[in-house]
Amino acid sequence: MGRLTLGVETSCDETSVAVLDPQGTLRSHVIASQDVHELFGGVVPELAARAHLVRIIPAMSAALSRAGVTLRDLELIGATQGPGLIGSLLVGFSAAKALAAGLGTPFVGVHHLEAHLHSVLLEHPSLTPPWLSLIVSGGHTMLVRVEDWGMYQLLGETRDDAAGEAFDKVASLLGLGYPGGPAVEERAEKGDPRSVDFPRPMLDRRGPARYAFSFSGLKTAVVEELKRRGRLGPEEVDDLCAAFQAAVVDVLVAKTLAAVEEFGNRVVCLGGGVARNRTLREALRREGSGFRLEVIVPGVEFCTDNGAMVARTAQYRFERDGSTSWEATADPSLPFPGLVKVEW
Ligand code: KG4
Ligand code: ZN
Repeated sequence: MGRLTLGVETSCDETSVAVLDPQGTLRSHVIASQDVHELFGGVVPELAARAHLVRIIPAMSAALSRAGVTLRDLELIGATQGPGLIGSLLVGFSAAKALAAGLGTPFVGVHHLEAHLHSVLLEHPSLTPPWLSLIVSGGHTMLVRVEDWGMYQLLGETRDDAAGEAFDKVASLLGLGYPGGPAVEERAEKGDPRSVDFPRPMLDRRGPARYAFSFSGLKTAVVEELKRRGRLGPEEVDDLCAAFQAAVVDVLVAKTLAAVEEFGNRVVCLGGGVARNRTLREALRREGSGFRLEVIVPGVEFCTDNGAMVARTAQYRFERDGSTSWEATADPSLPFPGLVKVEW
C-alpha cells in the first residue's frame, strides 16, 4: 500500500478518523457517535452536520496523537465523498481536503459503499477477489459480487427501506429508542422468533426480483400486529422483536445463499451496521456451512461507519487512480466506481 494514511468519515452521524500505516495496519481509530439524535428517534441532518463541525478537528487531533504521528508524517489523506447526508459529508470532506491542500499531501475522495465493501480487508489483508458481499446498513441493502479489484456487480438492492432502517423504524414503533438495531437485537434475545409469522418478502428464486430486497411491507406487518394487540407487555415486545429479526435475517441469508448457489462463490463478506447483528452472523455461518462457505465478518467497530475503512479504500484508490481532483466536492449521489448493475 505504501503510505501513512489519514481516513475521515462523516457521511451520516459518526465522526470517525483513523490512521493506517503503509502496511495497512491500524495505528489509531477514533469514532465519536452523536447521541443528540436519540431525542428525535432518528438522525436529524442539520444537527448531524453541526455535531461533525464541533468534533472533526478534535477527532483528527486525537487520531494523530494516539497513532504517535504528526500532520507532517501523513503521506495520504482520504475522506468519504458520498453518498450520505450533504451537510455531514461536507464537513469531513472539506476539512480533509483543506488539510491536504495546506500540507501538500495527496488527497482521495472515497465512495462510502466501496469503503464498506473493503472494510473486511482491515482484518483480512490477504483476501483477494472474487467474493460476494452483503452490505446491510441504515441507508443501503445490497448484494454485490466483487469479481476483481474495482470490478463490482450489483446483483440486487432494496426497493424501499434498507435493512437497518427497518430495524430503526420497528424500534421506534416499539419505543425502544435510536439506533434501533442494537435495541431490537437485545430484546429479541429474550423472545420467541416463532411467536408471529411475519412475511418473508421477495423470496422468489427465479424472477427479476430474486436478489432485490423490500422491507417496508414487513414494517407494515409489524404496525398491523401492534394495532391488533393494543398495549404490549414486555414479553410481547421481546417476542415481536425476535419474530421481526428472524424475518429480516431469513430473507438476507436466503438471498445471499441463492447467489452463492448461482455463482459458486466460496467467500461471503458482510459489511454495514446490521452486520453487527449476531443472529445474522450466526445464521449465515450455520446455513452457509452446507456450501463449505467461508463467512467473513468485520469486527464490530468496522461494521458501522468508520474512518479505518475509508483510509483503507483511500490507499487502494490512490494506488489505482492517483489523487482526486481539487475541484471535487462532497456528492450525496456519488456514482459507485466500477459498479455494474445486473438487469435480470
Ligand atoms: O453502516 P451504518 O453505521 O450507517 C449507514 O451507513 O447507514 O449502519 C447503521 C445501521 C442502523 O440502522 C442501526 O440500527 C443498524 O445499522 N445496526 C444494527 C445493529 N447495530 C447497528 N441492526 C441490527 N442489529 C444490530 N446489532
Ligand atoms: Zn455506512
